[in-house]
Amino acid sequence: MKVQFTETVLRDANQSLIATRMPFSAFEPVLEKLNKAGYYSLECWGGATFDSCLRYLNEDPWERLRKIKAKCPDTKLQMLLRGQNLLGYKHYPDDVVRMFVKKSVENGIDIIRIFDALNDVRNIQVAVDETIKNGAIASGTICFTISPIHNLEAYVKLAKDMENMGVQTVCIKDMAGIMGPQEAYDLVKALKENIKLPVVVHTHSTTGLGPITLQKAVEAGADVIDTAISCFSGGTSQPATETLAYSFKQQGYEVDLDADILKEINDFFKPVKTKALESGLLNPVVLSTETDALNYQVPGGMLSNLVAQLTAQNKLEKFPEVLAETPRVREDLGYPPLVTPMSQMVGVQATANVLAGERYKNISKEIRAYIKGEYGKAPGKINEELQKKVLGDEAPLTCRYADTLEPMFEKTKAELGSKAKSDEDVLSYIAFPAQAEKFFELRDEKEKNTFSYSIKKID
Ligand code: CO
Repeated sequence: MKVQFTETVLRDANQSLIATRMPFSAFEPVLEKLNKAGYYSLECWGGATFDSCLRYLNEDPWERLRKIKAKCPDTKLQMLLRGQNLLGYKHYPDDVVRMFVKKSVENGIDIIRIFDALNDVRNIQVAVDETIKNGAIASGTICFTISPIHNLEAYVKLAKDMENMGVQTVCIKDMAGIMGPQEAYDLVKALKENIKLPVVVHTHSTTGLGPITLQKAVEAGADVIDTAISCFSGGTSQPATETLAYSFKQQGYEVDLDADILKEINDFFKPVKTKALESGLLNPVVLSTETDALNYQVPGGMLSNLVAQLTAQNKLEKFPEVLAETPRVREDLGYPPLVTPMSQMVGVQATANVLAGERYKNISKEIRAYIKGEYGKAPGKINEELQKKVLGDEAPLTCRYADTLEPMFEKTKAELGSKAKSDEDVLSYIAFPAQAEKFFELRDEKEKNTFSYSIKKID
């Protein structure tokens, strides 16, 4: 029996604890150690890293990836991709999705974990196909959620659809940390009985269930688990790498991780954490255990968003009503998993319903688009009255929304002209236009400065 580990310190732990603000220079010196520790993979890109590099860190995300690859040639590099949405919140046409995947692999990615917020497999198909075409590993992802229609049968069907699509592994993604040990055991077991692929389990420590859930997942046959080096573990991050490695080794599992190297990696990150605590970037609150999500079955991040929304409008006394309305809105929408962007959309609509004193008096633009089918197929049935209110006699989309979009890569490239120095630049611009443009300007300025400096030096 063997259990393998994906280290998340560079991506999900970084994102969950310090809003992805770790610059490349902060972890560059430890990359060789990460490369040699014996991980199955290093999750280091995608999710919010791309946006954060351009928006806050003035780093070229592609260059970051190439630099990581140069120092980590022996361990697979992994990224998280939101299917047809890539790294953003809207759907892109297929030519952009294909180019993005192709360039990600070219620049160093070995494994792409691909998910769709609604578990609509049509929205991951193109990314999966292109990943495989480029010789990388496509990890088909199940967004785990709890609802009357999300049962083992539905998850197994989803995994089988992804297996037929050609994915090489299946990942269970519990973004809210609400998957209990028994649910994990039953789900992994059902997957192992019905598909032939390795199963990867991703959870968060938010509610405190994380390590117990991973224990039961591995007992049921999970092949790979996601963990974070201990000083960046716990709370809204993943369970600790060293703890889980120690525990599984003691139980007789084969674990490839080198405990001495793990200690060196953790020692390296300790001062990085201290600095983040001192600057306020890391709020100790996110490191503690927060069980409210278990009572409400809504992710912790969503609860704090609701509180912030109501506080801003001086209506915090409405919190219990909004909490009660949230699952009703979710039911009306056919039980979408509460992951970005659905968690925000459902929360905003529930708040609007309560504050207006009338349900669906105002319906947000995003919820209208969802009901039209622009985000994909709703997992369950959308409330008929609500659907009628939004669509009238119009029918919802039956095709993929991306099928209605015109190709845009070549057109954007032509429009950008010399501003973009590479196809990667064009993709950065398509993903985050304003941030990329600002980044290009700063980069040009920097190049000019470097140039005049070198002339001075010759003088
Ligand atoms: Co996560």
